[in-house]
Amino acid sequence: MPLVTSTELFKKAYDGKYAIGAFNVNNMEIIQGIVDAAKEEKSPIILQVSAGARKYAKPAYLKKLVEAAIMDTDLPIVLHLDHGEDFEICKQCIDDGFTSVMIDASHHSFEENIELTKKVVDYAHNKGVVVEAELGRLAGIEDDVNVSAKDATFTDPDQAVEFVERTGVDSLAIAIGTSHGAYKFKGDPNLDFQRLEKISMLLDGYPLVLHGASTVLPEYVELCNKYGGNIPGAQGVPEDMLRRAAQFGVCKINIDTDLRLAMTAAIRKSLTEDPGNFDPRKYLGLGRTAIKEMVLHKIANVLGSSNSL
Ligand code: G3H
Ligand code: 13P
Ligand code: ZN
Repeated sequence: MPLVTSTELFKKAYDGKYAIGAFNVNNMEIIQGIVDAAKEEKSPIILQVSAGARKYAKPAYLKKLVEAAIMDTDLPIVLHLDHGEDFEICKQCIDDGFTSVMIDASHHSFEENIELTKKVVDYAHNKGVVVEAELGRLAGIEDDVNVSAKDATFTDPDQAVEFVERTGVDSLAIAIGTSHGAYKFKGDPNLDFQRLEKISMLLDGYPLVLHGASTVLPEYVELCNKYGGNIPGAQGVPEDMLRRAAQFGVCKINIDTDLRLAMTAAIRKSLTEDPGNFDPRKYLGLGRTAIKEMVLHKIANVLGSSNSL
């Protein structure tokens, strides 16, 4: 099976009111853990690569590892660029064989965001590649976001309709209160579901994307901290909120931090409990298993994409 685009996957997910997991990948163990879980759950999967991941692992290695994952599992896999910041990186990934790219021009003005997104869409569609864009900015990215400025960063529903119409983009990442990383909420977790419902109603049938969707499960934070980590106060998006989002057109849910926590907790535990070990296969293997367990849990209990091949 070759790499696929997300078009058909999103149609099925939209109708079935579930979401496809988009997991960030940086090395072999992470890729193997994710696809082993997806294979066991009979679920399609999106493997996404950030600019940082390309720099860390080199583009050719990641591409070959993903090709190996397809050979090994025969799963429908989307290879996606996460947060492409300009036309050039999107073009490079399209030319390298990615089946999906994100152009993230959300920090530009509305008109500039449209212009850049449209440029990427035109190039990508010509090559059979799909495009995700972002409108609104995720809360919490900048330190200076305050309550009065907060609303301005959330996605405006009417603008979302205009944006999709004018760009022809295939999916849209929206800002409703999530943020990247392990520290998402200072008080109680709160997402703007009214806004999501409005966007979903206006863009009927259209796939939405939720970034910053890690749950930051307390047991992994505790495990990290128990073995010498220092990440107090971490807090993510509750799982019931993610399930609810999938009822309102959210077809792609982005998860990176939860994988980082799971892998790091397992490796910290292993190195602490077995200080005499210096075989990387032992602790990296345990890291890979932790990734697999995390993704199994996400697919089966949160995303709802099991048995959807
Ligand atoms: O949204 C960002 C992802 O968590 C990727 O993070 O840029 O450090 O690879 P990264
Ligand atoms: P988390 O930091 O919540 O895992 O979000 C990842 C993400 O949105 C990648 O694009
Ligand atoms: Zn993101």
